[in-house]
Amino acid sequence: MALDRQYKIKKIDNSYILYDIDIISDPVLELFDRDYHSNNEQFLPSDLSGETGIGRAKVIYFHSDNKNMVLKHYFRGGLVASIVKDQYFGFDTEKTRAFREWRLLKDMQKLGLPVPNAIAAHVKRGVLYYRADLITQKIENSKTLADILMEKSIDTIQWKKIGSCIKKFHDNNIYHADLNARNILLTEVGDVYLIDFDNSDFRADSRSWKMANLARLNRSLLKFKKGEDDFNFVEEDWSDFLEGYNG
Ligand SMILES: Nc1ncnc2c1ncn2[C@@H]1O[C@H](COP(=O)(O)OP(=O)(O)O)[C@@H](O)[C@H]1O
Ligand SMILES: [Mg+2]
Repeated sequence: MALDRQYKIKKIDNSYILYDIDIISDPVLELFDRDYHSNNEQFLPSDLSGETGIGRAKVIYFHSDNKNMVLKHYFRGGLVASIVKDQYFGFDTEKTRAFREWRLLKDMQKLGLPVPNAIAAHVKRGVLYYRADLITQKIENSKTLADILMEKSIDTIQWKKIGSCIKKFHDNNIYHADLNARNILLTEVGDVYLIDFDNSDFRADSRSWKMANLARLNRSLLKFKKGEDDFNFVEEDWSDFLEGYNG
């Protein structure tokens, strides 16, 4: 198996863990156990994770190996097509969303893009479904763009920074499948990170999907505004964003 040296796959019963040995030398299954970390659980409203229908994820923050980490759990019951496929063609861990998101994060990090550090992906093969989890390193002192705009407005420079951040991903032909205001993190000092690359991938260079990405983000912002009158997003903000993007 052609793996980068610092990445390893460990199999425990029906579970497969893909991990970065520079961060975790020997991952245990408890790391992916919500109850194990349960004091810090954070539930996310199901209707706020975009239009992909992936609404049941929730994250848990915990500390391990001297780092703050975030555990995201994917649970997908409706993958009938892939269940059948699994039974026919064998279970391909590399095709699971958790492994794909983990590897994409590593690729993007190598390109110098602002994304969380991928720590471990876990897939457990079941009879009729698979369960999957992803652990990333927490972006410290950050909040989602959506949460910030519920509290306050942000200035022209910050909107431009968000625009130019997304441009960087597009220049590297990274398609984000769910670019919305909850998948953009801003740190206290104004650094911008993108998260949640479920179903995302490198794509052939094309203006059309890049513009569709931007339109999706714009829709997300307008949707928040519609839901909440004092959501701090106005037309000029979007112009600033585009200026940063077109920079
Ligand atoms: N690495 C991270 N650092 C800080 N917060 C994170 C990180 N990963 C996820 N979060 C928080 O958890 C939320 C959900 O994670 P996300 O990957 O977007 O999954 P989903 O939208 O599928 O539930 C994010 O909106 C963000 O608030
Ligand atoms: Mg998300």
